[in-house]
Amino acid sequence: MTSSFKIAIAGLGTVGGGVVKALALRGEDLSRRAGRRLEIVGVSARDKNKARGFAVKGWTDDPLSLAKGDADMVVELIGGEEGIARQLVETALANKKHVVTANKALLAKHGLQLAQLAEKNGVTLKFEAAAAGGIPIVKALREGLIAHGVDAVKGILNGTCNYILTEMESSGRSFADVLKEAQAKGYAEADPTLDVGGGDTAHKLALLASLAFGTVPNLDAVAVEGIEHITPDDIAFASEFGYRIKLLGVARRIGNKIDQKVHPAMVKVRAALANVPGAANGVLVDAGEAGSFFFSGRGAGEAPTASAVIADIVEAAGGVLSPVFGRPASDLSRLAPADGKQAVSSWYLRFEVLDVPGVLASIAGHLAEAGVSIESMIQRVRAPGAPVAIVMITHETAQAAVERALKAIAASDKVRARPCMIPMES
Ligand SMILES: NC(=O)c1ccc[n+]([C@@H]2O[C@H](COP(=O)([O-])OP(=O)(O)OC[C@H]3O[C@@H](n4cnc5c(N)ncnc54)[C@H](OP(=O)(O)O)[C@@H]3O)[C@@H](O)[C@H]2O)c1
Repeated sequence: MTSSFKIAIAGLGTVGGGVVKALALRGEDLSRRAGRRLEIVGVSARDKNKARGFAVKGWTDDPLSLAKGDADMVVELIGGEEGIARQLVETALANKKHVVTANKALLAKHGLQLAQLAEKNGVTLKFEAAAAGGIPIVKALREGLIAHGVDAVKGILNGTCNYILTEMESSGRSFADVLKEAQAKGYAEADPTLDVGGGDTAHKLALLASLAFGTVPNLDAVAVEGIEHITPDDIAFASEFGYRIKLLGVARRIGNKIDQKVHPAMVKVRAALANVPGAANGVLVDAGEAGSFFFSGRGAGEAPTASAVIADIVEAAGGVLSPVFGRPASDLSRLAPADGKQAVSSWYLRFEVLDVPGVLASIAGHLAEAGVSIESMIQRVRAPGAPVAIVMITHETAQAAVERALKAIAASDKVRARPCMIPMES
């Protein structure tokens, strides 16, 4: 074997610890695959004295020094779109070191600039672990599914949301209840906003869309809605109609524009995406004439995420230096965002109304006025005096028209809560 490939790792938490352990356990085989001995020459984290469950060799208090030493590669596993993580990646690339990261927030925000920096310095920047954890979807989009182009990517990209929705369905409990339990079990962060609000899915979607369509990652163009407003009623009604609610990230090409959105969606119970359970992830790629491809597996956690990081390390050590987003940075286009409000689908609508004469007629009137026609309806009476749930499935209608009708309906004093609208996935 030729000279060793020197690796510096910043961040020794869930993912960094997993990478160090995997290299300790399987380093010989991985080195043979890379064609060079993989050697960790430096590590850094916040607290030198933390018990980590593995031998810490080559410690430095200053992560930035890793980007200035003799390492061939810096592995950034600290996280965050700014601060030390960004500084470290920029310094490493500027010093002609390859970089591997799992940091979706950093790449979704600064992807183009970092790709340009990597190219200028003749090094690579790899990020398989940044989207869908252990699922090799980055490689699939960057190299595998390129012959016929990609028309759409749809994914369950956040394990916390999928766990919460799965638990709500199996137990009938509320969002708040299940979230609290997920936090106690360590499946959800103390501040869950980025997960349940859809922001984390948006970061990953922006990266997948860039790989799929050859565009500059554009986080600002992703319309984002989370799962906080989903009720046990919505989940029960979905089941009655033969659907399951999932938080999806969806990117699709519409003419010469790209539509990117994150939102809860009704997915037919027999569809592959409806059967991604618990904290797992799933991604469906519509690759034109090549057909549809479905990937699923563990999207987070120590071993799956370390698996993706190790794949990137071995590939780069073996000399495979593919362009960051699959094309030279100068070739990435800036396609205009599509007007997502014109996207057409059937809709699930739920209204909480007072059980008084004329309410249903008034809702139907507003819907008709906006050109929204109803395919089916369920009305459920609860205790006397309590609000009644009215649920409707619409025929295919543009989002803007449904929103117009719901705005008028919500203004009525007979409507007790903000009406809920969820698209039905075709
Ligand atoms: N966890 C997952 O399943 C997963 C999945 C996909 C992607 N990712 C991404 O992977 C990255 C790491 O996530 P993680 O879950 O491994 O995080 P984590 O467990 O919180 O670990 C973060 C590590 O960074 C170190 N660190 C934090 N601030 C630092 C600073 N200012 N200077 C030096 N070191 C610092 C911490 O040091 P101490 O240990 O000393 O506190 C810790 O070792 C993030 O970008 C995340 O989005 C994670």
